[in-house]
This record gives sequence, structure tokens and C-alpha cells, in this order.
Amino acid sequence: MGSGVVGTATGEGFLAAGHDVTFIDISMSRVRELRDRGLDARPQLDLSAAPDSVIFLTLPTPNKSWTYDLTAFTAGTAAVGRALAGSPATHTVVVRSTVSPGTTEGLVRHVLEQHSGRTAGIGFRLASNPEFLRAVSAAEDFRNPWMTVIASRDQRTVDDLAKLLSPFGGELRTFSDPAEAEFVKCAHNIFNAAKISFWNEMWLVAQAIGLNLDPIAATVAKSAEGSINPQYGIRGGAPYGGVCLPKDTRGFLGYASAIGVDMPLLRAVVETNDRLEAVVKREVEAVAERTAPGVELA
Ligand SMILES: NC(=O)c1ccc[n+]([C@@H]2O[C@H](COP(=O)([O-])OP(=O)(O)OC[C@H]3O[C@@H](n4cnc5c(N)ncnc54)[C@H](O)[C@@H]3O)[C@@H](O)[C@H]2O)c1
Repeated sequence: MGSGVVGTATGEGFLAAGHDVTFIDISMSRVRELRDRGLDARPQLDLSAAPDSVIFLTLPTPNKSWTYDLTAFTAGTAAVGRALAGSPATHTVVVRSTVSPGTTEGLVRHVLEQHSGRTAGIGFRLASNPEFLRAVSAAEDFRNPWMTVIASRDQRTVDDLAKLLSPFGGELRTFSDPAEAEFVKCAHNIFNAAKISFWNEMWLVAQAIGLNLDPIAATVAKSAEGSINPQYGIRGGAPYGGVCLPKDTRGFLGYASAIGVDMPLLRAVVETNDRLEAVVKREVEAVAERTAPGVELA
């Protein structure tokens, strides 16, 4: 459902793996393009004669100001709901679009139930399986994923999707709450964005003092624990401490300021850590208070 970059890569990947695939897209020009490539493409989803099927929602989720614009996504989901209503089979709806945590069990579930007259988990199955492909190598990335994430409240749905996706390989991570899978995808992109912004901010400093950042960044990429150790720094509620990290983040901020380079990301790093330190301190004090001698524990 939605046969753009992700929908086409997904559909063609399943076709190559031997499945029957129908590509649905609201755009007639897109449908014609896909038909010209010999694919079964249609402007409307019709499940009236379909056997138990897996429907991947690969609908667009662009930005509107500082939020996701879910207009097209909601319209496409509603169309799936209407198609479910006219089908005797039990289908599995899989959210593959990038959405904020809670969307699958919130908006998607609600819209599907409203338009199908069926209940999730009984009349249809619901799951999240975010896509990690890169637009430049979409087909190749779909066929050779390095990570596959599946989430559903229903273990059988997780198992069936794992079986469906297993021929493509890659590490499999499963969750029982779709919000976890949605969070993984959002954090995945935000982490990449933060890393890119970090090095761009460093590049501005290097430019200001006439240094070539490339060999410096390439060295740090191999020296920093945060870069070479996947476990480093990923525990929530654990701000950095010790001597070096607090000292060198603040010191470099002052240095950059002195040479006229603003570093909003580094400033945010320090502020975020300070805030977390205060939160953790309050929690530790609260625990100490609760467990102080003479105080009865609840
Ligand atoms: N492009 C990427 O590299 C990439 C990678 C991972 C995840 N994603 C996510 O996947 C989702 C899809 O992205 P994309 O790049 O494939 O978008 P896209 O714009 O290439 O394709 C979306 C398609 O959906 C169609 N569409 C819109 N409304 C519809 C409706 N109501 N019914 C049926 N079809 C409809 C459009 O005509 C279009 O062809 C987004 O959530 C995106 O964030 C994209």
C-alpha cells in the first residue's frame, strides 16, 4: 500500500523471493509506471477474493512544520480498513512507514477497526516492521538488510513475519510492543542525524583554524569508544561523569567561543547531561529518603 521507494523495493523483493505481490498506489501515473515494468499494480486495494495476505503500509509520512503529516498515511490506512471489511480472510497489516512511537496501536489500529468493523487481533492481525533501507540503494538494501525489526502483541504474527523475512537474512530483533519497533526506527535516524551534525559542527571549528577535518575525524572514528564500541553510552539515565568528559566539553565550548564559532550541539550536549545529572541526583535522594532509618517503606 503506497508503491514509492519503499513500497516498490519491498514488493519487488518479495516477488523475487517467490511471493505474489500486488502494488497499490493512489497515483495513476505511478501505477502506469509499475505496470510498464510488468508488475501487478492497481489504484485500489481489493481483498474480496484474496487469501490470507500481508499488507505492508509503505505510505508517505512527510513533515508538516515540526510534526509528521499523516494525512496520506491515514487515508491509505482507511482504504485498507475498507478492503478488510469486504474480505472473508484474516489479513496481517504491517506498518513499514516511519511513524512516531504509538502510531501502530493508536491511529492505525483505530482507523482500521473503524473502517473494517473488525477488531485487531481477531478480525485482522497488526504489526510493525520498520524499513531501514537507504533511498540510493533501496532494492539492494531490502534484499540484504543488516537488521530486521518486527513487533506485534501477537507472538504468532511475529513468528510468521520472521519466517517471511528470514530469506533476506540480517540480524533479527523482535518486540512485543509495536511502539518499541517504531522507537527503534526513529532513534536510528535521529542518531545518524546527530552524528552527522556533530561532525559538521566540528568541521566549522576546523575550518576556522585552517585544519583539514577529514584525517582528524577518520582517526576519532577509530579511537572514540562511542564510535568503536556499540555498547558504549547507550544506557539511559546514566549521565557522563568523571573528570574528562565534563571538563573537555565545557573547555572546548569556551575555546570555540573565543575563536568565534558557535557550537549549539555541544552546548546542548552539556545542558542535556547537566539536566540528567539533576534528575538522577533527585532520584537517588528520594530513594535514600525512603530507605532512611526510622522511615517505614511502603
Ligand atoms: N525513502 C527512503 O529511503 C525510506 C527509508 C526508510 C523508510 N522510509 C519511510 O517509508 C515511508 C514511505 O516512504 P517512500 O520514500 O517510499 O515514499 P514515496 O513518496 O516514495 O512513496 C509513497 C507512495 O505512496 C503513494 N500514496 C500516497 N497516498 C496514498 C494512498 N492514500 N493510497 C495509496 N498510495 C498512496 C504515493 O503516490 C507514493 O507513490 C515513509 O514513512 C518514509 O519515511 C523511507
